[in-house]
Amino acid sequence: KFEGLAKTPPLGWNSWNTFATDINEQLVKDIADKFVELGLKDAGYEYIVLDDGWMAKERDANGNLIADPIKFPNGMKALADYIHSKGLKFGLYNCAGSKTCAGYPGSRGYEYQDARSYASWNVDFLKYDWCNTGKINAESAYITMRDALKAAERPIVFSICEWGDNQPWKWGKEVGHLWRVTGDIINCWDCEVGHGSWSSWGIWKIINMRKDIRKAAGPGHWNDFDMMEVGNGMTDAEDRTHFAMWSMLASPLIMGNDLRTASKETIKTLTNKEVISVNQDKLGIQGFRFTNENNTEIWLKPLENDNWAMTFVNMSDTPMEINFDWNKHDIGDDVNGKRMDLKNNTFKIRDLFNHKNLGDTSKNLIQKLNSHDVLMIQLNKI
Ligand code: GLA
Repeated sequence: KFEGLAKTPPLGWNSWNTFATDINEQLVKDIADKFVELGLKDAGYEYIVLDDGWMAKERDANGNLIADPIKFPNGMKALADYIHSKGLKFGLYNCAGSKTCAGYPGSRGYEYQDARSYASWNVDFLKYDWCNTGKINAESAYITMRDALKAAERPIVFSICEWGDNQPWKWGKEVGHLWRVTGDIINCWDCEVGHGSWSSWGIWKIINMRKDIRKAAGPGHWNDFDMMEVGNGMTDAEDRTHFAMWSMLASPLIMGNDLRTASKETIKTLTNKEVISVNQDKLGIQGFRFTNENNTEIWLKPLENDNWAMTFVNMSDTPMEINFDWNKHDIGDDVNGKRMDLKNNTFKIRDLFNHKNLGDTSKNLIQKLNSHDVLMIQLNKI
């Protein structure tokens, strides 16, 4: 059922960041094969989502959406069958407006008909965009599509993509399972490319824009910090930080790189099960900034069983040393009333990227950290 979906943030891959509209059946099959071969499926990745550009430029004579006959000669049902045969799930994209952002037929006025098509193709996930919407009300437009999906009687994860303009964190919980919180991501640390509403945002721009809406996230309804740029040109250290932060933020982890050519280091980052388990923690609490003094970002995320995840990022251009005195900090999450009672408890420290134990909180945490690199630890109550 619609309500029971996405109890933890969805994990998957989307075509847009690398391929834009240049997608086809063989590419998608290759990606599905790579999910299995590279251990991505085993790490928990599930959804393969085709973004804009999968459709023919016109609907058929009956108003039905059809797959581009050249890119997808066997149609969407056959592709869904292939993806399902690998134990994975299949997602598609459309848009609340008259046309998609890339100019393909949008769903406005065809919501129920399109939902029936998706259900008949066994689609499991719909990303629903916001271009060419004129003056329509966002919440109602997304409610219409939600109701259409429910009426089609297939469990389909509903991914709202209106870039945060209409504050979906205020109404999205009842409408979809995840909602984008900003305009599009781009593969850089802290840049802005373009201007105004057409900007694309580097990872720290996105994080800083939307760090205050964490209360809206929880099981079944997530703030979506956009598809990841891991493997798309930042350094390995920056990619690790990006992946750690998306996990701390309980954001959906949707890969956006070319899995056919990904480096070993990229796959190592993406398949890090210890980091993914922080993202997938059952409490579903979005992490928050503890401090960002002295060029160090420190973030916290409460986990099940009174455990915590903690992330240190070196924001400077030079290596640094962390020296964290547990006795000098009062660590807690005011939103959830959770406190890490360090006076009465000791926590074991687990380094999630290097997969090793770092002692416990009875001693200062001392670690070297390269520029833009991350130390992500899990604190397990003894
Ligand atoms: C918008 C979305 C992107 C992508 C493109 C497709 O910009 O925010 O994620 O889906 O449209 O055209």
